[in-house]
Amino acid sequence: MKKNLVILIIATIFFGCKLMPKEEEKENIKPMTAKTLYGMIGTDSIFQYTLTNKNGMVVKILNYGGTVTDIITPDKNGKMGDVILGYDSLSGYLQTGNPYFGCLVGRYGNRIANAKFMLDGKEYTLAANNGSNSLHGGLKGFDKVIWSVKSFNDSSLSLSYLSKDGEEGYPGNLSIDVIYSLSDDNGLKIDYVATAEKATPINLTNHCYFNLSAGADSTILEHELMLKADKYIPVNEKTLIPTGKIDEVKGTAMDFTIAKKIGKDIANVTGGYDHNWVLNKSGDDLELIGSAYQAGSGRYMEIYTTQPGIQFYTGNFLDGTLKNTRGGVKYVQHAGLCLETQHFPDSPNQPSFPNTILKPGETYHQTTLYKFSVR
Ligand code: GLA
Repeated sequence: MKKNLVILIIATIFFGCKLMPKEEEKENIKPMTAKTLYGMIGTDSIFQYTLTNKNGMVVKILNYGGTVTDIITPDKNGKMGDVILGYDSLSGYLQTGNPYFGCLVGRYGNRIANAKFMLDGKEYTLAANNGSNSLHGGLKGFDKVIWSVKSFNDSSLSLSYLSKDGEEGYPGNLSIDVIYSLSDDNGLKIDYVATAEKATPINLTNHCYFNLSAGADSTILEHELMLKADKYIPVNEKTLIPTGKIDEVKGTAMDFTIAKKIGKDIANVTGGYDHNWVLNKSGDDLELIGSAYQAGSGRYMEIYTTQPGIQFYTGNFLDGTLKNTRGGVKYVQHAGLCLETQHFPDSPNQPSFPNTILKPGETYHQTTLYKFSVR
């Protein structure tokens, strides 16, 4: 009897220890860190990296274009859904006319008029890919290059890219780090850091198309948007190049200072919203500058940034023709909205806009945070 009891006690302690994770083992009971092969471009492997947090929020990113393919967040009932537009496979991202879904944008986000600018007395000619203008870095912008992975764990992915002197017409080697981090309070933070060997324009951003209904609504016209911006930059309606003026939003369709449905005034904006708002910020701290809300799902997204501007684009050029879309869904006009935190378009040609020239010895550092919750 006594012997059996001793055996039982020893067995209990032994198996108990085995079953009960030790402190250091507990550390490892985290969501699975995943890196999976997503496809090939020639002989280059394209991987998809999955970030997860303790709430089960998931963000998936490719080394191709630093592209965010999925942002999966809970709705007000705890049901998970993907809140960005995307494709089922790499071929979707590689198709001609992919309108920059989820990617990193650079060396200069948005348009540079006539694909030209003057810097230190020299005229530079860029690759024109939008009529006579250069859009989102040119023919092969940072959205179409393969980024190196510097580090990866379940809460962050650090990417880097060396843009060579002369690439797409831009001066000097530019070395860029982009760090995506997912926090336990459902924030997706993007840090952009760069240094240049020659003076160069720089304007980095991300081009996610959000639809907080996660597929329930075919457009974002019912989303309520708030932007802390009393001013915006009017553009030439044909070329979408800034006129050089900065206008007040008050009394116009551009006023989002109090949250309103995107569809409310969109009919009064030729082509739909595709403008840069001038954020009400005094400095370059990370500040809350806007929010988007979709009542059906209860999803609410706050946008924080260090940047002076934001391009709010309502997917005006989407027309249902993209192939390999996620689940075969037709992405119709206004299926998603972009909130591209950035410097103002065409700044290198607009002397009154804030400076976008990065000089050797300086460090470019911008941060944007998209924070998800429900209401
Ligand atoms: C940005 C531009 C738009 C359009 C999209 C990509 O948001 O401002 O005009 O080019 O990118 O389709």
